[in-house]
Amino acid sequence: MPQTMTLTTEDADIKAAAEIIQDGGLVAFPTETVYGLGANALNSAASSAIYEAKGRPSDNPMIVHIADISALPQLVKGGRDGISIDAIRVMREFWPGPLTIVFKKSDIVPDVVTGGLDTVAVRMPSNEIAHRLLEEAGVPVAAPSANLSGKPSPTREWDVIEDMNGRINAIIMGGQCDVGIESTVLDLTGDEPVILRPGYITPEQISEVIGREVRYDEHLTNPEEDGDNFHPKSPGMKYKHYSPNARVRLIEADGDEYEKVVKELGIEAMDQGLKPALLNYEGDAEKAAHKLFADLRELDRRGYDIILIKTLDEEGFGFSVMNRMLRSAGYDVVGADYDAASPQLSEVEAYADAEVTPKESDVSGIPGINDRDFGDMEYTVVLDGKVE
Ligand code: TXA
Ligand code: MG
Repeated sequence: MPQTMTLTTEDADIKAAAEIIQDGGLVAFPTETVYGLGANALNSAASSAIYEAKGRPSDNPMIVHIADISALPQLVKGGRDGISIDAIRVMREFWPGPLTIVFKKSDIVPDVVTGGLDTVAVRMPSNEIAHRLLEEAGVPVAAPSANLSGKPSPTREWDVIEDMNGRINAIIMGGQCDVGIESTVLDLTGDEPVILRPGYITPEQISEVIGREVRYDEHLTNPEEDGDNFHPKSPGMKYKHYSPNARVRLIEADGDEYEKVVKELGIEAMDQGLKPALLNYEGDAEKAAHKLFADLRELDRRGYDIILIKTLDEEGFGFSVMNRMLRSAGYDVVGADYDAASPQLSEVEAYADAEVTPKESDVSGIPGINDRDFGDMEYTVVLDGKVE
């Protein structure tokens, strides 16, 4: 198990991080979306070490990050000729930034990076620290989000440390990520442009640039197809995702009905001896994206067993944030018609029986982290038997 170094954003440290990547090591770094866990994308052994550090299924492909457009043709089948006019328009508008584009892949991209697919997902981040690292490394960098597989993506350096300490070579301490959820993944390899994963850049914005309709992959709008028949184009979509240790339930109700459901669920949880918390972003999708993953992690640290989240409108960017909320809740949405005496109560009981032990964060050995004040949470918390 490597000793994980924490690095600053000073030039000498960025240089050290770049050298680790050149030597086949693993470095976590901030981007404008979430923290990434990077390795040299042209080095199979280094890239496969990422799967091990994350505990990630190896058929789930990774995004390749580049600092400069000149690094793209080598990754794409047919080189420059393999880059479509649509891709050029979209890149000109949204790169650097939170948009990933799927191309047919060239032979130099190892299968381990693409999970055996004949396509490669590429992104040019706008975060300045990420850019300096990629430029200094001088190689394309394969980087999934820097969390243990299944957990919420890390948006703060301490969240990365919590999951990755002792598993990777270094972490660049780059503060808090701006957007807070992962990049939009746009597939331009088929006849029509398709969004495989919703993110900050919306289909409407892309549509405007390329002058034709951009649709969501059908699996995003029909999640009930989950299960054995679920073969999405983006393999990552089929795995459990964004899940804290606590159970997450979404509340889709407004006004008095919302208050009533919160109370019922809160009391119900406490009757089971469980500690409930409530996240309400007041319909603000940007704020929700910025805070959601950090809040889920924070509530785990504080030992909450059930996290209730008020849903958002699925307009524009709201659709992307709701996608993360729905997946962290395993599509468990409670509506205004919720009645504590309804059959849903048995689900809560089953959950209560299934031993819920809030896990202590394994962050021993990092000086200062245990007494760090994580503070600054804006959600309303239902506390110790008193429902507010
Ligand atoms: O914002 C982001 O994209 C972050 C930061 C670190 O850049 N990265 C990230 O990577 O979210 P990851 O590995 O956690 O998610 C990559 C997603 C997965 O859903 C994966 O299935 C999909 O992109 N993906 C990667 N390569 C693909 C390909 N060739 N075809 C289709 N989907 C692909
Ligand atoms: Mg991820």
